[in-house]
Amino acid sequence: MVKATLPVVQAHGEAITGCFYPRMFKAHPELLNIFNRGNQANGAQKAALAASVVAYAEHLLGTSDLPWEPILERIAQKHVSLGISAPQYTIVGRHLMAAIGEVLGDAVTPEVAAAWDEVYWLFACELIAREARLYTEAGIAEGQSIWREWRIENRTEETREVVSFTLVPADGGTVPTFTPGQYVSVAVDLDGDRGQQIRQYSLSGRPDADHWRITVKRVRGIDGAPDGVVSTFLHERVQVGDTLRLSPPCGEVSVVAGEGPLLLVSAGIGLTPAMAALEHLAVTEPERPVVLVHADRAGTAHAMRNDLPRLQEQLPNLRMRLWYEDVTDSQLLGLKAEVASGLVDPEQIPVNPDAHVHLCGPVPFMTTVRGGLLRRGVPRERIAYEVFGPGMLRDERV
Ligand SMILES: Cc1cc2nc3c(=O)[nH]c(=O)nc-3n(C[C@H](O)[C@H](O)[C@H](O)COP(=O)(O)OP(=O)(O)OC[C@H]3O[C@@H](n4cnc5c(N)ncnc54)[C@H](O)[C@@H]3O)c2cc1C
Ligand code: HEM
Repeated sequence: MVKATLPVVQAHGEAITGCFYPRMFKAHPELLNIFNRGNQANGAQKAALAASVVAYAEHLLGTSDLPWEPILERIAQKHVSLGISAPQYTIVGRHLMAAIGEVLGDAVTPEVAAAWDEVYWLFACELIAREARLYTEAGIAEGQSIWREWRIENRTEETREVVSFTLVPADGGTVPTFTPGQYVSVAVDLDGDRGQQIRQYSLSGRPDADHWRITVKRVRGIDGAPDGVVSTFLHERVQVGDTLRLSPPCGEVSVVAGEGPLLLVSAGIGLTPAMAALEHLAVTEPERPVVLVHADRAGTAHAMRNDLPRLQEQLPNLRMRLWYEDVTDSQLLGLKAEVASGLVDPEQIPVNPDAHVHLCGPVPFMTTVRGGLLRRGVPRERIAYEVFGPGMLRDERV
């Protein structure tokens, strides 16, 4: 039944999830505080949910050659960073099934509905089980909130558009460690009746420090779109001494995976996981060969650049290759780096055949770089990446 109806569900996937969200929010307005309203407005979340359900059905049917585990893990990690609980799956399931009925109409016979209900619950059970383990590992008991108050200890204006915050637990308790590449969710209370919004920020400091650091780019609205809600709030409203609600560290992508050489490729604010990795390696594996490739609009837009000369001292085998669109201001400020102008050329990225690669930046940037590295013989499984939004790269469908 699922095999027969998959093409029609696939073709209408985004229409179904587009119908699902308003239905669910009407019945459960409290969920508006958990979901990202920006991703609702720009359609990113709709696409991610539809693609994941279709990918799961293909996985069950055995018609997919995608490794399933990374998809499941990505979703579970994101859910845990948001505090999603098992009872909420009943709500999502009910409204998703109703939306399938509404969009596909008479095509949804009771047998078709039962088959897709089963797909949903098999998927839900896998996620619930994985999320339960992750909550336990993070020391969060059933029914306990994931949120903890953190106090802003320091605020550093990195560039005109980027600010770093260092945070300590407001209760004076211990600072959990994390793997470079992990992120935290940050929950902020907006003015008036705008409620709460949650966003993820990669931890950009050293994992075993006595504080956490996040580094936030201010998102400006383009072509009439509104400015980013949470990044603007953090830039304009959050000062030293204020508190923020943070989740435990989550995320399945490690920037320091494997052994041997590392190639870290980032663009713009996508450098935050790589900075945590460099800080970590400077203490744990200072001799490890690392190539840092970073693309930015200009030297003045390159956040945390001031940390790099120190990291170069600490990491004798760190090589840097920078691409600035505008190099007229490329005062290198003590950096020993090769600097090129324009956009990153994947052919010019120094590739060690044994390197583990980590990419982070806008999706088109990562798609181009990943494609170039694959063509140059880097095995797919050695290229990890982080998307700063819902979903994965297109050729992995979710
Ligand atoms: C794992 C992960 C790690 C991340 N790490 C970092 C990090 O280290 N640093 C960092 O700065 N960011 C990071 N991000 C991104 C961050 O979570 C936020 O997405 C980012 O700060 C934007 O949030 P916002 O609330 O400011 O923007 P939103 O309000 O969510 O807006 C996002 C976009 O949607 C557009 N939009 C909103 N409403 C509409 C509308 N009605 N019509 C059309 N367009 C609309 C906005 O113009 C904007 O371009 C990460 C994301 C993830 C998933
Ligand atoms: C089988 C059921 C579910 C599936 C298949 C699913 C799938 C997904 C996917 C694919 C993402 C995007 C992950 C990414 O960032 O790449 C996501 C994010 C999310 N999910 Fe789920 N989910 C399910 C259940 C739930 C439930 C029960 C809730 C709680 C009400 C929930 C709330 C969220 C939220 C709030 C996000 C982040 C949204 C955003 O950032 O815009 N999900 N989910």
